[in-house]
Amino acid sequence: MDKVVALAKRRGFIFPSSEIYGGIAGFWDYGPLGTEFKNNIKRDWWRNMVYGRDDIVGLDAAIVMNPEVWKASGHLDSFTDPLVECKTCHERIRADQEEAIREHEAEHAANKEEVAWTEPKTFNLMTEVLLGATEPKQKAYLRGEITQGVFVNFSNILSTSRVKIPFGVAQVGKAFRNEVTPGNLTFRSREFEQMELEYFIKPDEKEGEKTFDYWKKERMKWYLLLGMNKENLRFRKHESDERAHYARIAEDIEYNAPFGWKELEGIHHRGDWDLSRHKLNYKDPDTGEEYTPWVIETSGGVDRAALFFLIDAYAEDEDRALLKLHPKLAPYKAAVFPLLANKPELVDLAREIYNDLRCRYMVAWDDRGNIGKRYYSQDEIGTPYCITVDFDSLEDKTITVRDRDTTKQERVAIRDLVDYLREKL
Ligand code: GAP
Repeated sequence: MDKVVALAKRRGFIFPSSEIYGGIAGFWDYGPLGTEFKNNIKRDWWRNMVYGRDDIVGLDAAIVMNPEVWKASGHLDSFTDPLVECKTCHERIRADQEEAIREHEAEHAANKEEVAWTEPKTFNLMTEVLLGATEPKQKAYLRGEITQGVFVNFSNILSTSRVKIPFGVAQVGKAFRNEVTPGNLTFRSREFEQMELEYFIKPDEKEGEKTFDYWKKERMKWYLLLGMNKENLRFRKHESDERAHYARIAEDIEYNAPFGWKELEGIHHRGDWDLSRHKLNYKDPDTGEEYTPWVIETSGGVDRAALFFLIDAYAEDEDRALLKLHPKLAPYKAAVFPLLANKPELVDLAREIYNDLRCRYMVAWDDRGNIGKRYYSQDEIGTPYCITVDFDSLEDKTITVRDRDTTKQERVAIRDLVDYLREKL
């Protein structure tokens, strides 16, 4: 974990937010490479969910909504964490975080201090904002889940698109939770991004189970197709006392993180909880039948996916560290080097290749130091292919392509390079 945290900072994946002022707990910025990486995750998710299917449409709802939404959805009453407070130093910790509690007790024990905890008290996770210029300002909330935007737009979506039940609405966007103990880099943040599908079905027990099972498997497949190691992923069903207030059934996809098995994505059977709370119905356009649909939800954290993809891809072999990222996720798909920076004919040809590739892919340029160092520098950020222009290239119009994972090198004709990369990527 320490190595991934250091790499993420050193190479521009993730920075503490407002770092020059000491940062702020639970907020993070994505640097140049992190932004590409995270966009690649979101793009692939969107391609998979929306472009790849004809039963799912997209939405981009506002972060701040009428506060009545949160009253109806149950978040103002029930979106809570149980907290215990240390009677010695008044620090509050989530009652279910046994490890943090043990660590806290150990710190006090080291100072020969007693620790006593209060009984757990519930603490609401919604983040308040104040709107308007005149007093009293209007209190609203930053959305605690991106989901409600889909439900409150249910009728708008039905009347403006051609979807019919069963259908889904996909959305990616920021959510905010007033987490008491943010930590483990971006794992638990106060501002984070979610990628969610709300899939509407006819209310029926069997259909509900079937759809839940289908989406559970689809979502697991997505992580595996993007290269996450199978042994680091598992499903975990929620017990009835840990399910969110809206869920009839909940199962997590968990990742085997250095800090334990942790939730990566939640699959929820929300039944008609939300639509009935918002008093919304569906009328079948063919039969005229009216009912309140049920919802099966897949809710993934973009930042958690990014963090776990990084951890999963991190590897060391002999004297190098590398990120074995799936090419779809790697910030740069290739890097182009002239063998020597002070030979204009090499630089010109390398530039030509670089400019040609740049119209198609995110490509890096590097002409500093020796080739070995440039390879290692690209390995560390997960660039799958490095392309070197050398003196032979000037004669025979071929270049060397070096593979990140095997370090094997191949000579490829410059005119075949685009096809070669297309096939590999
Ligand atoms: N709409 C359902 C929902 O929000 P959730 O299980 O509370 O369900 C879904 O959250 C996902 O959002 C989680 O699996 C996780 O990946 C991500 N997530 C939740 N809280 C987070 C936090 N504080 N920091 C980073 N990601 C978080």
